Amino acid sequence: MKNIPLPPTSHKPQKYTGPSADEVLALRKQFMNPGIFLYYKKPIMLVEGSMQYVWDDTGKRYLDGLGGIVTVSVGHCHPHVVAAARKQNEILQHSTTIYLHPNVAQYAEKLASKMPGDLKACYFVNSGSEANDLALLMARAYTQNYDVISLRNAYHGGSSGTMGVTAHSNWKYNIPHSFGVHHALAPYQYRGPFGYNDADAGRKYANDVKELIDYATPGKVAAFIAESIQGVGGFVEFPQGYLKQTYEYVRAAGGVCIADEVQTGFGRTGTHFWGFETQGVIPDIVTLAKGIGNGCPLAAVVTTQKIAQSLVGKVHFNTFGGNPVVSAMGKAVLEVIEKENLQANSHKLGNYILAGLNKLKEKHKIIGDVRGKGLMIGIEMVKDRATKAPASAECAQVVETAKDLGLLIGKGGLWGQTIRFAPPMCITQADVDFLLKVFDEAFSSL
Ligand SMILES: Cc1ncc(COP(=O)(O)O)c(C=O)c1O
Repeated sequence: MKNIPLPPTSHKPQKYTGPSADEVLALRKQFMNPGIFLYYKKPIMLVEGSMQYVWDDTGKRYLDGLGGIVTVSVGHCHPHVVAAARKQNEILQHSTTIYLHPNVAQYAEKLASKMPGDLKACYFVNSGSEANDLALLMARAYTQNYDVISLRNAYHGGSSGTMGVTAHSNWKYNIPHSFGVHHALAPYQYRGPFGYNDADAGRKYANDVKELIDYATPGKVAAFIAESIQGVGGFVEFPQGYLKQTYEYVRAAGGVCIADEVQTGFGRTGTHFWGFETQGVIPDIVTLAKGIGNGCPLAAVVTTQKIAQSLVGKVHFNTFGGNPVVSAMGKAVLEVIEKENLQANSHKLGNYILAGLNKLKEKHKIIGDVRGKGLMIGIEMVKDRATKAPASAECAQVVETAKDLGLLIGKGGLWGQTIRFAPPMCITQADVDFLLKVFDEAFSSL
């Protein structure tokens, strides 16, 4: 295999002196739940990070093309975010929402200022699953309806509530979890019945939501929930007009529209700050996690004051939600995105990568589809372009080869057939040139 040099960095990692990867693997096997999966034939152990790069215990550096699963939005250990955490850690780490604290209120104000329309009421929690659970609760409490429409190929979390709206058999345990949930056709143009060349595909996929409302529910629904680009499903972008038409059908049936922005938010799509804006809609409830905190346990549900009122009357409480430290970090993340123009960087480099990957698609027949927006890019691999048989083993091999060459990327899709690239948004042109060379080499060596 060729050696492809990583772009230089001025960061000097510390010498790692802790237990070896093999020792840590043994501890994990003995003391941790085996359900927690690892990547790679020989798992790697990351011990340091600086902006878009991470180092393993042997001192090997990687370009982090997955950002801790679409979570490190502005860069590993970004100095502004670290400084905000450090400052607050030394004063007061925790108090809970039963007392006032300026950080959470000021952060809510800043986050709300990024939202369109009446989306001004924030509720902070710790994870995407919690945010989606809470959004579904609010939707049901507000509408007094129960049924929820979600999409096939969706991932919304691993709690028992969100496992119900998730629609990949891989993530669903055999427990009762989907009562009142109906899964509509995924607007997945590469594999679905209405392809890229169908200008009316958005409306046609939306009709399936309408049919579900008419045939599978009492005609009234509590909510429609969708990621703005499906993440775990393999970075599946919806046809234009899909959300607009679907939102009309859902609202006509008394429901509210929930946008899961856990992966698509904070400028990652490049053209817009929020993924739903790429479809020209304003949801009623937005859920946020992952990139919101650049790696700290922070998540949020943002809705209108009217819908937020639905939680009043019973007691709802979240011990850590929006604690002083994570609120300071969340605010710092927003400041970095603005100051460093990271949305514009996502836009510029995302387009460059897509153009480069489309060239690679001409050369490598195993690439079935190249898609995505900004720094959220998927490469779906197929054994045969006519049958679209998923090339799962080959996808795993590309992920493995890329790692050996110094690039970490992810997999997605029901069959693990889609490569996912979603790095910290601070990557540079030199990183992207490195990435394209690595992909070419990894596909060539299959
Ligand atoms: C779109 C989406 N929603 C929700 C979640 C759940 O987030 P968490 O793992 O923080 O519970 C994820 C996690 O991957 C996600 O990708």
